[in-house]
This record gives sequence, structure tokens and C-alpha cells, in this order.
Amino acid sequence: MAMTTTLPRPAARVSRPTGPPGIATVAGLASRRLPSTEVFTRVAQEYPRVAHTRMFGEHVYFLTHPDTVREVYVTNGRFTIKGRALQRSKVLLGEGLLTSEGELWKRQRRLVQPAFHAARIRTYAEQMVTTTLEHERDVWHDGRELDLVADLSALTLTVVGRTLFGADLSGDAGDVGAALTEILTHFQRQVLPGAQLLERLPLPGVRRGMAAIAQLDDVVQRLVDEHRAAGDTGDVLSMLLSARDDADGTGMDDRQVRDEVMTLVLAGHETTAMALSWTFALLATNPAAAVALHAELDDVLGGRAPTYDDLGRLPVTTATFAESMRLYPPAWTLGRRLTADVVVDGWTLPAGSLVLASQWVLHRDPRFWPDAEEYLPQRWINGDGRFDESAPGQPRTAWFPFGLGQRMCVGEPFAWAEGVLVLATLAQHWAPELTDGRVPDVDPAVTLRPKGGLPAVLRRR
Ligand code: HEM
Repeated sequence: MAMTTTLPRPAARVSRPTGPPGIATVAGLASRRLPSTEVFTRVAQEYPRVAHTRMFGEHVYFLTHPDTVREVYVTNGRFTIKGRALQRSKVLLGEGLLTSEGELWKRQRRLVQPAFHAARIRTYAEQMVTTTLEHERDVWHDGRELDLVADLSALTLTVVGRTLFGADLSGDAGDVGAALTEILTHFQRQVLPGAQLLERLPLPGVRRGMAAIAQLDDVVQRLVDEHRAAGDTGDVLSMLLSARDDADGTGMDDRQVRDEVMTLVLAGHETTAMALSWTFALLATNPAAAVALHAELDDVLGGRAPTYDDLGRLPVTTATFAESMRLYPPAWTLGRRLTADVVVDGWTLPAGSLVLASQWVLHRDPRFWPDAEEYLPQRWINGDGRFDESAPGQPRTAWFPFGLGQRMCVGEPFAWAEGVLVLATLAQHWAPELTDGRVPDVDPAVTLRPKGGLPAVLRRR
């Protein structure tokens, strides 16, 4: 059911907003990566609403103001498909929810959405806390040195496995982590010109990327096989396996099931792990924020484990998690290709063009965020003492950690529940210290990762 879309090439003579010259050749190609966070920031400073440039022979528009972001992603979202990076990530994710388009996407979204309704999140919340407590008991020992990125990724992988697939992936965590690192490197190459050609050459990097994908495929296949053997267990994978199309009564083939499972495993654990990692890094370096968080946890929980019902009673914990995603958004850029001409700020952006909007840039824009570079969780607390996403007073589209418009994250309620419950469980008793004593630089890969991981020493408080 793959959708092939033939788009008209953008017309040669159209008037365009100004922008940086040859950004891809200078910044992208030289470092063999996508435009980095610094490149985006510089473009936004110089072109505060919209900029045009050429990248890898394509017309690319940077949207650097909440109004221009809204015009494309919200108002004209139906005239967009995923951009270059996600198109290319089909090599791993196939036609799963994150990468598919059109009717196939709509059908799959309808199918997967119920797995994230409030009643389901309540059940998952229990498993999230139990899994975190087990992890704390087995791994978090006072004085232990570890890489928090690897540690929290293993935890969130186990959570996704148990909640969505009723499976224990903890034994696979090391393999999945190593495979992911290979794959992220692989994705960097994927967005370069000629990537499809490179893909066919027996280069060591390509071989390692493909081997990593095969390794993840094995994990997913095992999940599917175990489920088929166990019969309907009521979880997401059972739903996928038993789903029937209303129109023709057909089910999903093995390939489609594999693509959805791979998408949920990856999209569902990597981003949350990064958000939690940055949160611990920021707490370790911002004592006032840590004091406020610990005070709330001591006061509300008094030493007991949190539950789903506590989520509304932990505004500071929620604000702490939100403020981390503001400064270090795990998904730091959103790319789209236009399927029709779209007017932005009075400019006609021709069908076929690429557009980019960066959470990294909009979340730190001093026009919309007072003390934009400061870590201030209290900005999210409103006059009634509640967590409120509009409390900082920013325009709606200056804040989009979970995306915008119809393709918004299906797992958002899951991510908030997991982020807050894992943070509440661990920060209640622990205040990890960073080995380097500072928040690491960013490694802007597909997700925003701490460069060199997050070496830390676990300290009981
Ligand atoms: C802090 C954690 C998370 C962040 C920051 C995040 C961010 C995002 C963003 C920005 C998008 C939109 C991508 C685009 O428009 O191109 C997205 C989509 C998606 N996310 Fe998340 N996500 C998180 C957690 C999760 C979780 C826990 C799951 C599943 C368990 C999940 C599954 C998905 C899926 C399947 C999509 C594609 C939705 C669609 O197109 O219909 N995400 N996520």
C-alpha cells in the first residue's frame, strides 16, 4: 500500500524570501550532516520569519517565526508530507505510523490511537512505576558510575516493551542500544545526496547500518512470534494482529505489523530517554530547580511510589520535565515537503519545496520566552499553582516538542505520564552528579542526544 507521490518540480522563476547562500555545501556537506542546531540558530537570528536557501539541489525554506510555522504545519498541514530525513528513515521504519502517508497513515492512526486513550495510560502508569522501582532496585546503587543515557534508554525500552507489547525487552536493551547508535550514524548518511547509491555499495559503514537493522528486525520478529503463539492478550500488538480493514476485511500483512512495531519501539523509547537524560543533567547543574522538585516530591509523595492519580498533583515535576523539553527538545527539527503551493508571509512556496521548523530555535527564541536560555521550571506554573502549557505566555506555535497539526505525536499522553512518573520515582531518592560537572554539548542526530553520553555518579539524597 506504499504511496508514491510524484510532485512537480518547483518552478524556476518564483520570487523568494532571502536566506543564507549554499548552506548545504558549506555547513552540511563539510561536516557530512544536516544543518546543525547552530546553523538553524544563526539563520533564525538573521532571517526572523522565513528564509530560503538551496540544500542538496532542493529549494528549502526555514520557518523561524511562530506565525510562519503555523501557516505551514497547522493551516496547510494537509498539503505536506514528511521531509527528507523521515522519508529516508523508511529503510528502518518502513511504512509505520511515523513515515507513512495518505490513506494508509489514516487507517493505521485510527487503529493505533486507542492504545493511547486515558484508560490505557492509567494501566500503563502502574507498569511504568513498577518497572522503574525494579530498575532502581537492581541498578541504582549509591556511588555507582554509569552513563545515564544508556541507563535511561534501557529503562524506557523495558517500559515500552511491557506496556505496549507485554514483552520483556530488558535482555535486549544492550543490543538495541548498540544497534541504535549504528542506525543513527547510518541515518546521517541517508540524508546526503546520492545516499541511495551509497546504500548499494559494500562499504563498512553501510554494512554495519544494515546489520544493526537486521538485529532490530530479529527483536521485533520475536515479539510478533511470541504474540502469535500466545493468542490475543489485549495489548497493542494483539490489536495490530487482529485488525481488519472495514472496507475489505483484510488484515495487516507481516511487513506492516513489523513496521508499526519497529516504529513504536523506537519512537516510544528513544525520545523519552533523551528527555529524561537532559532533565537529570539540568537538575544536577541548577540547584534551585532541584530544591523545588525535591520539596514537591517529599511533600506530595512522602516516600511512597507515585501513581496515575498523582499526575495532577505534581505540577513542579511536570514543569521540570516540560522545561527540559523546551531547552533540549528530543525531536529538535520537523521537516516537510509541500504537495501544493502554500502562501507563507505573502510568499508563495512552490509545491515540491522542503520546509524546516526547529523546536531548538523556536523554544529558545528570546522574542517569545523571557530569560530564554535559563532553566526555569516555574515559568510553567500558573496563578493557581497548576502546570499550564500556556503559562509562559508564548505563542502556541513557539512550543511544539510533540510536533504540530495532524501528524502530532500519537504517544504524547504516554510520554508525559512516563516522563513525570519516572522522574518522580527516581528524583525522590536520587540526585545524580555529572562526572564532567556540566551539561554536555548537543549531538543533533535524528534526536537531540547529549554528546558523549551522560557520565554520572548516582547519589542518594
Ligand atoms: C518525550 C517523548 C516524545 C517526544 C518528544 C516525541 C516527539 C514526536 C514528534 C515531534 C512527532 C512528530 C514528528 C513529525 O511530525 O514529523 C512524533 C510522532 C510520533 N511519535 Fe512521538 N514523541 C515522544 C514520545 C513518543 C512515545 C512514547 C511514542 C509511542 C509509544 C511515540 C510515538 C510516535 C509516533 C507513532 C509518531 C507518528 C505519529 C503520526 O504521524 O501519526 N512518541 N513524536
